[in-house]
Amino acid sequence: MADARDLLDEGERLDPDGLRTLQLERLRASLRHAYAHVPFYRESFDKAGVRPDDCRTLDDLARFPFTVKADLRENYPYGMFAVPQDRIRRIHASSGTTGRPTVVGYTENDLSMWSDMVARSIRAAGGRPGDKVHVAYGYGLFTGGLGAHYGAERLGCTVIPASGGMTARQVQLIQDLKPEIIMVTPSYMLTLLDEFERQGVDPRGTSLRVGIFGAEPWTEEMRREIEERFAIDAVDIYGLSEVIGPGVAQECVETKDGLHVWEDHFFPEVVDPITGEVLPDGAEGELVFTSLTKEAMPVIRYRTRDLTRLLPGTARVFRRMEKITGRSDDMVILRGVNLFPTQIEEIVLRTPGVAPHFQLRLTREGRLDSLTVRAEARAGATPEQRDAAAGVIAAAVKDGIGVSVAVEIVEPESLERSVGKIRRIVDLRPR
Ligand code: DLL
Repeated sequence: MADARDLLDEGERLDPDGLRTLQLERLRASLRHAYAHVPFYRESFDKAGVRPDDCRTLDDLARFPFTVKADLRENYPYGMFAVPQDRIRRIHASSGTTGRPTVVGYTENDLSMWSDMVARSIRAAGGRPGDKVHVAYGYGLFTGGLGAHYGAERLGCTVIPASGGMTARQVQLIQDLKPEIIMVTPSYMLTLLDEFERQGVDPRGTSLRVGIFGAEPWTEEMRREIEERFAIDAVDIYGLSEVIGPGVAQECVETKDGLHVWEDHFFPEVVDPITGEVLPDGAEGELVFTSLTKEAMPVIRYRTRDLTRLLPGTARVFRRMEKITGRSDDMVILRGVNLFPTQIEEIVLRTPGVAPHFQLRLTREGRLDSLTVRAEARAGATPEQRDAAAGVIAAAVKDGIGVSVAVEIVEPESLERSVGKIRRIVDLRPR
């Protein structure tokens, strides 16, 4: 292959020993930086009785305390910053739907490292210098748009900064400007699909070759749906603002076997969500990140609440993380059974007669919670096909997840469409 190793950057060419040596050196520096410059870390390390120099091996990281979202909120806005304000070049913030937003900051070097990681991600997805990249992640305080944008520029691509929304115009732009790559949430890609069809344009006939989808959980079934409907390769990109934004981990197009974590900059652990104990690679739990090179806002053992497993590297030296099952916050506990929206996605997307659009409604009667899966009929599905689909979904949930749910097949195009991150759960239970 013309491709292969010549295209890899310095970090990607490390061998396993070289990688571990670099990680340890960077980890120790990051712990020292956090301890020296962020009062929160100084206090939390002191309380746990650990000093940065106690970290002599990568396993020693487990002795350090976790950082959680609430810590970031309590130190809002600038309390977690480790450099003077005049070294901060950019601020991003999470939406803050619950309480205060979380603010994150970047130095010049942080922005450069971030661009490098997104460039590396786009290249792993199959993008090359000279490709045109249509960025339909939202621009603004959300890290998706600007993160993708500067990474694509860094790789040497032409960026089309479409941002989210104005769906009809997005379809027009894709037809006219002929991008090879699109970066967007998978749910908004489905919204675009509807629009292609509404405009009578064949989505398989566009210039698009690769889609880089993230910012929300999505399944193999969704990959199949998007790849077939658009005739593209669909790969997964992961990230979170607290760590950097998009470009923490990326799936390689040649293997499509989970996301390689760029662990020369972000050190992953998977822990038991309840006890906090570090789990061995291969076991499912909560993903935790420690930044190795960040200056403005180092994070030490940040609990993401995302559930996954760490697996050995394949296309790259770095370990992979399996596609995210969901966030612990999105887990529904229904009569003692744990359920994730991704499990419903798998079922809905393989059921004939329904479109890939669904919503989960949680209600309560008396003391009993119930869940209704509302899935959209495919255009042209007959009443018999709709009834059959409802039966198939209910049975698959009962058999596969072990709980009874109600299923409602709603009219085509009646469910709210995503323009960014989709909200799957509508919680109508009384507070
Ligand atoms: O969503 C960053 C991003 C933008 C990633 C664009 C990928 C593409 P936040 O808004 O801080 O940052 O949300 C982070 O989104 O903890 C996960 O729960 C979820 N998430 C992000 N990527 C994926 C993914 C951006 N590929 C939160 N699969 C994370 C599943 C994802 N969930």
